[in-house]
Amino acid sequence: MTRQLITSALPYINGIKHLGNMVGSMLPADVYARYLRQRGHEVLYICATDEHGTPAELAAQEAGLPVAEFCARAHDQQKAIYDGFRLSFDHFGRSSSPQNREITQEIARELQANGFIEERAIRQVYSVADGRFLPDRYIVGTCPFCGYDKARGDQCENCTRVLDPTDLLEPRSAISGSAELEVRETKHLFLLQSKLTDEVEAWIAAHGDDWPVLASSIARKWLTEGLQDRAITRDLEWGVPVPADTWPELAAEGKVFYVWFDAPIEYIGATREWADATGGDWRSWWYEADDTVRYTEFMAKDNVPFHTVMFPATLLGSRQPWKKVDYVKAFNWLTYYGGKFSTSQKLGIFTDVALELLPADYWRYYLMANAPESDDSSFTWDLFAATVNKDLADTLGNFVNRVLSFSRKRFGDEVPAGAPNGDAETALGEQIAELLAEYEAQLDALNFRKAAQALRALWSAGNSYLDVTAPWTEIKTDPEAAARTLRTAINLIHLYAVLSEPFIPTAARTIRDSFALADDTRTWVSADEARALALVPAGTGFTVPPVLFAKITDEDLAAWTERFGGERA
Ligand code: MF3
Ligand code: ZN
Repeated sequence: MTRQLITSALPYINGIKHLGNMVGSMLPADVYARYLRQRGHEVLYICATDEHGTPAELAAQEAGLPVAEFCARAHDQQKAIYDGFRLSFDHFGRSSSPQNREITQEIARELQANGFIEERAIRQVYSVADGRFLPDRYIVGTCPFCGYDKARGDQCENCTRVLDPTDLLEPRSAISGSAELEVRETKHLFLLQSKLTDEVEAWIAAHGDDWPVLASSIARKWLTEGLQDRAITRDLEWGVPVPADTWPELAAEGKVFYVWFDAPIEYIGATREWADATGGDWRSWWYEADDTVRYTEFMAKDNVPFHTVMFPATLLGSRQPWKKVDYVKAFNWLTYYGGKFSTSQKLGIFTDVALELLPADYWRYYLMANAPESDDSSFTWDLFAATVNKDLADTLGNFVNRVLSFSRKRFGDEVPAGAPNGDAETALGEQIAELLAEYEAQLDALNFRKAAQALRALWSAGNSYLDVTAPWTEIKTDPEAAARTLRTAINLIHLYAVLSEPFIPTAARTIRDSFALADDTRTWVSADEARALALVPAGTGFTVPPVLFAKITDEDLAAWTERFGGERA
């Protein structure tokens, strides 16, 4: 398998995302995409803004803008931030694109033709106080399964079960809080998921064992409860319209598809946007894709039911040869001092503000090294500062600067030659080759925390090597030995630049740019090359880069805890 299709759950359009959103979908996907590209795979990394639905309409209303204009602006704003985080999307699209509209309508028609869609009159919740039908997520109440008292009508965030608003106990309007809710009748399209249960079950049985437990257990839990038929249209202004050729009456009433119906289809839609912009071949990735295409999805755990059950059911029911996911990488929550990051309550750190404080690499490394993989993970400023100062500033940054500065001071602007390798270099080479294998294995398995640990161990190995060889002493007694140590350490620095790129692409680039290698197109190193530590030959020119990572000071910490909240340890 050499063609890698990668998608991140589409960030919703209403408002800037926080660091929890970043680490739960886009950032790990970017690290993985960069790694696979470096390993020589053909990668297509796709994401987009998820633009339809009530929250977009309400946010536009609040901003005093027509919803189309609001979304266009909000999309550009998010895109700029993701560029700042160095997310290397091949395309960052919009679920409101014409391409997505076309495919969504096409898939709906196919589902209809295959008998998986039915028109049903439903009784829908109408809020008298708000003067409108309430979409599912604007009805809140107590979850009948787990008792969580802020469950939304579409899903319980606490136990991840997908709900119908009528399941909720003590329902009330999320807009006004009013419990004066009436039920009125209106027609909608239903996706007959119950008819697809066996197929989805068989599909998960065939693939789910390869997924991490977090993804497969949520999928199975949901399946054992049986798939419910679900309404896939809504009474909204903004969305993919129900096509008039197939459902004239509903189209005339202005019904649009439910946002969770068209959003995952935008993975395909965005690939078509990419193809239209670049001349790329979207079909070879999505339609009758052969088994050289491996598709990996990244998402937070609340997204798992939609991606492992509902979207596959949609694709299966279309009876078209759409590519389905091979591997689902799901994340737990990143918390802020143990509490929820919250967009509505503006609690925690938002992606735009994060970049105002520090460059992307600091956040990228910290977030991935502490990714909420096997459990929730808590952001604290102390842990953030400790990680940055120790791993990035000391172990990597300081190593790079002191080796290059010292070498230049003693031996000039070129990598010194020095004595042939001795025992210390042989031992170091073995160690580096082993750690490289570990790093690759963890990245191949999408274990990001463990991959970050292996990367940190690679950086540490350089420091230990200098402790043993002590070039600062060697220079006095044996300059040839000191030159050998520096030549070896400089080779490590270049190796670090190559291997660290998935996590810290900017610093990696800066380091590589400090070498005057004739043809530095290398993207990865083999075990043998790692062992030999000789890819930067003696005589190669270099410069000393500026300090790569500034330490976070106590004053910074005090100011940031004050500004964002959170206690000091
Ligand atoms: N916007 C959704 C969320 O933030 C995720 C949509 S993922 C998609 O939870 F696949 F449906 F697009
Ligand atoms: Zn619940």
